[in-house]
Amino acid sequence: MTRPVIVVGAGVAGLSAAVAMARAGQPVVVVTKAEPPGINTFHAQGGIAAALWPDTAAEHAADTLRVARGLGHPAAVAVLTESAPAAVAELMAGGVLTDESNGVDRAQEAGHSRPRVLHAKDGFTGRAVWHYLARVAKADERIRWITDQVVALCGSDSAITGVYLASRETIAGRGVVLASGGYAGLYPWSTNPDTATGDGLWLAYQVGAQLADLEFVQFHPTVLKEAGRPPLLLTEALRGAGAWLVDEDEQRILADHPWGELAPRDEVAKAVWRTARAYLTAAHLGPGIRKAFPALAEALAERGWDLARDRLPVRPAAHFAMGGIVTDLWGATGVPGLWAVGEVAASGVHGANRLASNSLLEGRVFGLRVAEAVLGAEGPSSDKCGLAFAPPDPAFWIPTSVARQTLDQALGVIRTQTTLEDAQNYPWHAMGHLSDWLTGLMLEAAVKRQESRGAHCRDDYPATDDRWRGHLVHQKGHPLKLVPIGK
Ligand code: SIN
Repeated sequence: MTRPVIVVGAGVAGLSAAVAMARAGQPVVVVTKAEPPGINTFHAQGGIAAALWPDTAAEHAADTLRVARGLGHPAAVAVLTESAPAAVAELMAGGVLTDESNGVDRAQEAGHSRPRVLHAKDGFTGRAVWHYLARVAKADERIRWITDQVVALCGSDSAITGVYLASRETIAGRGVVLASGGYAGLYPWSTNPDTATGDGLWLAYQVGAQLADLEFVQFHPTVLKEAGRPPLLLTEALRGAGAWLVDEDEQRILADHPWGELAPRDEVAKAVWRTARAYLTAAHLGPGIRKAFPALAEALAERGWDLARDRLPVRPAAHFAMGGIVTDLWGATGVPGLWAVGEVAASGVHGANRLASNSLLEGRVFGLRVAEAVLGAEGPSSDKCGLAFAPPDPAFWIPTSVARQTLDQALGVIRTQTTLEDAQNYPWHAMGHLSDWLTGLMLEAAVKRQESRGAHCRDDYPATDDRWRGHLVHQKGHPLKLVPIGK
């Protein structure tokens, strides 16, 4: 019997890969530690950027590279943008995404030079995409779906072949695709579910994979700020539709920026952070705005806000991890039998600042590509699936309050050497928690990068410095190193 491929994670990247492999006849085991709402894809609003005629992949690529602040890889971005139309075709045919042909305009979002964001009718695109892919995956008998946590990888002497679960089951197969998402959920103020804790990064690091760009965490600029209530993301598409960001005196805080409210996300997040009281307002757009964003208008109404009337208090919140496991353009990590895809990966498409609505796209495009790569790869020569390292104690996976506070205070929107160095005095690597291990690595990279670039904004080094035009790479047993772009 053909051995299965194990996909860790059930967001857009994992499910795209799983479904594609299953359709090619390959048995797949999807292991997810959570079901919605614990799956990040489920929370994505915005949509999926794709250059459909008369837009071009070249324009989409130019926008993606411009906002990536010198760290985007042109070859990876070309793959992303050129593959986008084909990658969204099934979602459009399945009625998940809409465009002018079925009555809804492509949305404009920050950093894009033209409207190109396809979205679900109600505006909660991630939810619609997830339901579609999960339905297809669950209906496919070649896919086994397990809700459990992967706590170790296993393999032979020469390759990773499977995973070991918290329930103590070993799933042996022909290889593992990590699609387990990012780590922005470690921040106390985040748009991610608290399941987004960077598990995949730790698993891959244990077997020698490289991690890059951990200092780059994107902050979404407009998250509803209400004491005692979970953050509610106010999609950038609202600004694309004409909503303004204003201060207490009703002055537009981005009035002097040539792109206004549609400036790239890193700049808007900094402007909002630096404004004592910032608000998003769509009141001047009239009641039609409720119809254009029905699910969000409803979510706001449930909290007592009227999208068409109220000035909504906002603050930035951790939203997306640009850092991740270094991969090639097919998701290969360099560790035989181990691939990574989606937010857990650093594939070169986002650089220092991700373009809006490129994350579901990345998951979809690279999910389909990794499926092709795994199917084309020679299977491992041995059936052996021994533990590659010891699974940690259950407490290891639970984020600590010291890590969460440090992320908030030292690794937030604006950073300084003193705060970062003070935070480094804590023995992060000795504490036996995933959150602490990752915070330690993030601090190391953030201290080292003495410049401001994209999502890494240093008060004491406000300029971007070409000497730092490269990736800071962590690898077990090696000192942190700067790998210049193109090397
Ligand atoms: C949003 O709707 O503003 C978020 C979209 C994204 O993160 O790309």
